[in-house]
Amino acid sequence: MNYHFSSRVPKSDVDPVGDILKIAGKPGIISFAGGLPAPELFPVTQIAQATAQVLQEKGRDALQYGSSQGIQELRNVIVDRVKLAGIHTDANHIMVATGSQQTLDLTGKNFLDKGDTVIVERPTYLCAVDVFKSYGAHFAGVNMDDAGMKMAELEQALIDNPSAKLIYTIPNFQNPTGRTMSLARRQKVAELAEKYDVMVLEDNPYGAVRFAGNSLPSIKSFDKSGHVIYMGTFSKILAPGMRLGWIVTETKLLSKYTMMKQSADLHTDNLSQYIVAKYVAMFDINRHIQSICKLYQKRERLMMNAIHKYFPSHVKCSQPEGGMFIWVEIPAIKDTQALFAECIKNNVAFVPGEPFYEDQGDPGNFRLNYSNMCDDQIETGIKRLGAVIKQMINC
Ligand SMILES: Cc1ncc(COP(=O)(O)O)c(C=O)c1O
Repeated sequence: MNYHFSSRVPKSDVDPVGDILKIAGKPGIISFAGGLPAPELFPVTQIAQATAQVLQEKGRDALQYGSSQGIQELRNVIVDRVKLAGIHTDANHIMVATGSQQTLDLTGKNFLDKGDTVIVERPTYLCAVDVFKSYGAHFAGVNMDDAGMKMAELEQALIDNPSAKLIYTIPNFQNPTGRTMSLARRQKVAELAEKYDVMVLEDNPYGAVRFAGNSLPSIKSFDKSGHVIYMGTFSKILAPGMRLGWIVTETKLLSKYTMMKQSADLHTDNLSQYIVAKYVAMFDINRHIQSICKLYQKRERLMMNAIHKYFPSHVKCSQPEGGMFIWVEIPAIKDTQALFAECIKNNVAFVPGEPFYEDQGDPGNFRLNYSNMCDDQIETGIKRLGAVIKQMINC
């Protein structure tokens, strides 16, 4: 059968990241590849209690069709959560989305025509690149340092691409690098967005999972002109399987998101929304988040200590203050895929860096996840990885 696909559908059937995750998931492999939260911290009992309450009190509402904007009770919870990022808003400026992944997709729908430019961090979240590509976007990559996107490069990208539609950024504990954008740069991004009249999509899935340093206000909190769209999610602070994310933006734009969402899925799962609103009313979500931070801090420390012990001394690593990832840079490794293949033979896995770039990427970089691996496997896995790296670069 010869299918007549739309131009959105990739021509190739190759799914490099899917293949990596499949291989990394084989039994016996210590995998630092996936980007999964620690399942042992999912509050299963409390969610069961909240679910029982919802079904008893509001079963018919929860099982009925609902509003595209999301239920009021959950939007009220989100109003409180975004205050922590310095955003003072009300429930009318919030839409609940089916995970923040849907916000990426609806942003593509709302803003991108074939050939439009999206400015992205280099490297960035690979599923965002895939979404924007499906709407025909071209990319301008902006390099980062330990304080996030380099502002001179960002401004140059805006000058070089005067009709750029979006700047996409993950300012806290970025995926894949674990880096955090400095306060001064957050202010600057908001300023540049206004100056060049370009929208910023601020993606903050990890901000609440901070285990070191001080919280920083969001870019949105510096937005005086309505150029910043802020997105968040319950995936990393509660459970990704609930598929609950959110967007905060101005009324006129929010109504476009709601319209686009209506044609995508009518609304986000009502039952999940009621359950999470009830969970927050019955239990202390901030205490729960503290337990996540504590565990991730322990695992990050274990991984970093093992890296210092087993990797060659010149290897460069990001120093995350939260989130789930460490980014490793070893320029002496010219073929990250070959390193990956060798690691698989030694029963350890990571995600090679290339898919996180909007272009061909830089070799020798890769992402390590520490949130999802038991403490005792972290040292063993990093020891194996260190041995393969040393063997490949002869040191
Ligand atoms: C930067 C970033 N944005 C968005 C998402 C999607 O998250 P969700 O749809 O579960 O909210 C992820 C998932 O890992 C992510 O890392």
